[in-house]
Amino acid sequence: MNTLRRLITLGALIAPAALAAPGRHYNATRADRPCIELRIPVHVVANNSQYQMPRVDSTIDYVDWVWFTERWSALTSAELVTGAIPVNQTFTIHGQLCIPPGGSKADILQIATHGGGFDGRYWDVDVKPDEYSYVDAVLAAGYSILTYDCLGTGKSETPDAYDIVQAPVDVEVMQGLTSMARNGNLVSASTVISGQPTPEMKAYRPQKVVHVGHSIGSFLTIGFTAAYPTLSDGIILTGMLFSNESGVFPFSDFAFEYAAENDPTLFGDRGSGYTVQGTAAAAQLVFLKKGAFEPELLDYAVSTRSTVAVGEVISLGTNLGRPAAGFKGSVLFFVGEYDFVICDGDCNGIYEPAAAKAVYPDAESIDVYLQPGTGHGTTLAINATAGYSVIFDYLGQKGL
Ligand SMILES: *[C@@H]1O[C@H](CO)[C@@H](O)[C@H](O)[C@H]1NC(C)=O
Ligand SMILES: *[C@@H]1O[C@H](CO)[C@@H](O)[C@H](O)[C@H]1NC(C)=O
Ligand SMILES: *[C@@H]1O[C@H](CO)[C@@H](O)[C@H](O)[C@H]1NC(C)=O
Ligand SMILES: *[C@@H]1O[C@H](CO)[C@@H](O)[C@H](O)[C@H]1NC(C)=O
Ligand SMILES: *[C@@H]1O[C@H](CO)[C@@H](O)[C@H](O)[C@H]1NC(C)=O
Repeated sequence: MNTLRRLITLGALIAPAALAAPGRHYNATRADRPCIELRIPVHVVANNSQYQMPRVDSTIDYVDWVWFTERWSALTSAELVTGAIPVNQTFTIHGQLCIPPGGSKADILQIATHGGGFDGRYWDVDVKPDEYSYVDAVLAAGYSILTYDCLGTGKSETPDAYDIVQAPVDVEVMQGLTSMARNGNLVSASTVISGQPTPEMKAYRPQKVVHVGHSIGSFLTIGFTAAYPTLSDGIILTGMLFSNESGVFPFSDFAFEYAAENDPTLFGDRGSGYTVQGTAAAAQLVFLKKGAFEPELLDYAVSTRSTVAVGEVISLGTNLGRPAAGFKGSVLFFVGEYDFVICDGDCNGIYEPAAAKAVYPDAESIDVYLQPGTGHGTTLAINATAGYSVIFDYLGQKGL
């Protein structure tokens, strides 16, 4: 049991004393946090593809889309490409920037990319935030953090779900946000929707940037570091592990539905090709392990669900083709021990270091940590904060 967790180098790196809960908590109502909400214009130049696939204008269509892409005799995504779609436009991305005044690591910016079926709220859980909000934990540890809604989710722009919301564009959005932050114009180029930007925020220019992903957000982070290896100083890939069991869990088990039909009030404006997680049971299977979550957190997962564009799903593989040669930082895979999605329910003993090394040949180090007892949604599980401390201690060990 837990052999992998015992074997990995981290066990030796992290002293028990370092696992104490962060000392400072921000107000759960969030009003007094050092955060501003932004509408960020991100210019994107990307090479999307045109794919042959059925239109999705109802849940019946969507189930057929799953048949079209997942049956054993289905063509691969690459075989479904019928042409190139050059993208050259500006998208509006909704984000939240938090910079702790006087934070000991405020000059290190974490940029967090959520996974499929959620939006930026995944990192900022509003139920018992002291125990679950990754944003609060990051601030308490002294770091700055940018969370955002990926294109096609949350309060970000929701363009064409077939041709525009695809992985190459998602990667360029990440590049755009990172470059704006590094150039010091993230706030000046954006519209502030809520919160008071301090002079410190307006002039903010991080010394280092750490990219944190969850699930699809981790896939995108891998694609981003392959395309722009020098724009990141370290990466934390949560809900992600390279193993022989990755990809076994079929996407059909996510039980998605046509978003506008699932909830016309929340998603009526999304239109063709936008889908959303359909049931609480599917949300539990995908994100949470019984015994390791409070029922309120399942309710939270359902109430904060967000849309996934079919173009994004079909194009995901385009990110994984090439190694992130030239990325010289450290990589931590941080995954729930019983993650159903990425380990087919049990991450023990299946990690393939050679696969990780092939993707990150020049990384300073690659490590794995299994968060005990939990499922795919590590921010929604009990003991989440102790897991965050593992991440921060890891970063500290790496000079971040
Ligand atoms: C949090 O802030 C709200 C107003 O923003 C205030 O009413 C409440 O008392 C505060 N709670 C704590 C625990 O400080
Ligand atoms: C898009 O494709 C063109 C032509 O192949 C290439 O020059 C360019 O670098 C690509 N752009 C991106 C962002 O990958
Ligand atoms: C993007 O569009 C702008 C304005 O139309 C143009 O100047 C620029 O050359 C285009 N870039 C690419 C890579 O096509
Ligand atoms: C993956 O590797 C583990 C450990 O070697 C093995 O027990 C399991 O059967 C393998 N799974 C597949 C799908 O090959
Ligand atoms: C909580 O998480 C920490 C960090 O991963 C771990 O050391 C500890 O054993 C966990 N506690 C339980 C009860 O699983």
